[in-house]
Amino acid sequence: MSAKLENLIKNKKAKVAVIGLGYVGLPTAVEIAKAGYKVFGIDVKKQRVEAVNSGKSYILDVSPKELKEIVKSKKLIAFDNHQLLKKADIILICVPTPLDDHKNPDISYILSTTKEIAKHLRRGQLVILESSTYPETTKKVILPELEKTGLKTGKDFFLAHCPERIDPGNEKYRLKDVPRVIGGITKECTRLAAEFYRNFIKAPIYPLSSSTAAEMTKILENTFRLVNISMINELSLLAGRMGVDIWEVIEAAKTKPYGFMPFYPSPKVAGHCIPLTPFFLKYTAEGYNFWTRFIDLAGEINEQMPHYIMTKVIWVLNLKAKPVRGTKVLVWGVSYKKDIGDTRESAAFDIIADLIRKGAKIDYFDPFVEKFTVEHRILKNKAALKSISYSASKIKEYDLILILTDHSGFDYEKLARGAKLVIDTRNAIKSRKHKNVFRL
Ligand SMILES: NC(=O)c1ccc[n+]([C@@H]2O[C@H](COP(=O)([O-])OP(=O)(O)OC[C@H]3O[C@@H](n4cnc5c(N)ncnc54)[C@H](O)[C@@H]3O)[C@@H](O)[C@H]2O)c1
Repeated sequence: MSAKLENLIKNKKAKVAVIGLGYVGLPTAVEIAKAGYKVFGIDVKKQRVEAVNSGKSYILDVSPKELKEIVKSKKLIAFDNHQLLKKADIILICVPTPLDDHKNPDISYILSTTKEIAKHLRRGQLVILESSTYPETTKKVILPELEKTGLKTGKDFFLAHCPERIDPGNEKYRLKDVPRVIGGITKECTRLAAEFYRNFIKAPIYPLSSSTAAEMTKILENTFRLVNISMINELSLLAGRMGVDIWEVIEAAKTKPYGFMPFYPSPKVAGHCIPLTPFFLKYTAEGYNFWTRFIDLAGEINEQMPHYIMTKVIWVLNLKAKPVRGTKVLVWGVSYKKDIGDTRESAAFDIIADLIRKGAKIDYFDPFVEKFTVEHRILKNKAALKSISYSASKIKEYDLILILTDHSGFDYEKLARGAKLVIDTRNAIKSRKHKNVFRL
């Protein structure tokens, strides 16, 4: 069974289904198609399927030109149903894994996808979970569901986890340049999955001893970032009280050639991975009667950051004897980090909601996010906003510019010169000569 699949992989004859064509799935489907495999992209969102089939990219990391060529060559075809799963030799799961309102993992997307796969499962198929999830999902959720078919893992079909490490907008480390770790249910599952990834990932592939080790690896990476960014966020609050410039301190610490890695303050750790996946681990840990205290603390500091930014807004306006009510505020950047259009978990949701609640007149500017809808528990109605178009003269119209995201390509010194007041949460304005600029 495995020799046949191995041959299909080696000869690029294996047909690959990628379920979920989002930030992870679409670039992955494109890379696999570029390597020479036939790819079926599957998504429940009809617009995404239509966009892919007409060669229109909606993901920044996928160039429209590349997508058009691949679609034209028929190496990638998208579908809005799961029928083609029976024809696929390899199936990749790239569906969302959010947290619910109580910060518990919501694996309903993985579960419904697994049920679809089970309907079509046949001998010789390789199923790989790429979505980030809590440790033991592959072994304790996906495996039993697939084995309900009567087929056995490692004998009839193969199952592995290969966590995605994509960094949207990163030009240096694109999908194919990032090493991958892979853990299968059996050694043969790991070997076959690793064999497959070596065909479209240029960086090294690291086989691990189990799918759980692979799941835990992803979470360790994200927890490392969440804890460290939260730590520097906490220190930035202290530095603010002491009148110390935290950015200067970080630059100074960076001069040590070993044993230090810089992390920078931000209005909130956001995006679809770092603020979420550590809580997957917390969930697993609770099942072992174990408390992950670093994660709780980091999460608490992180969630407080937008509140701290609001107190800064109130404090800065107070210096000019202004209340928040009626003040014209331009929020600069609503995506969670620079040069991308992803707004998931962005601090802008909390901060804009609070500014609206307090009566500020809000506009925002973001070259990557044309429309931004804020639905928030503290707001009665949702606020549907549209980015203003940028011009230096417009900046003067606002009482306060609140920089939440430091998108590249703007002259921030000029912005500081033209604005009445600026709160810069990202150190976008490097010089320290502007008396109207306040930092974290
Ligand atoms: N975005 C990132 O930077 C990133 C990085 C690493 C890992 N991840 C992980 O990858 C996974 C996917 O994240 P994403 O950012 O690509 O999400 P996304 O929301 O951008 O894309 C997921 C896609 O899956 C589709 N989908 C949902 N249920 C489906 C189903 N039953 N069948 C077919 N399609 C379905 C959705 O319509 C959507 O288009 C998550 O587990 C995430 O944590 C994301």
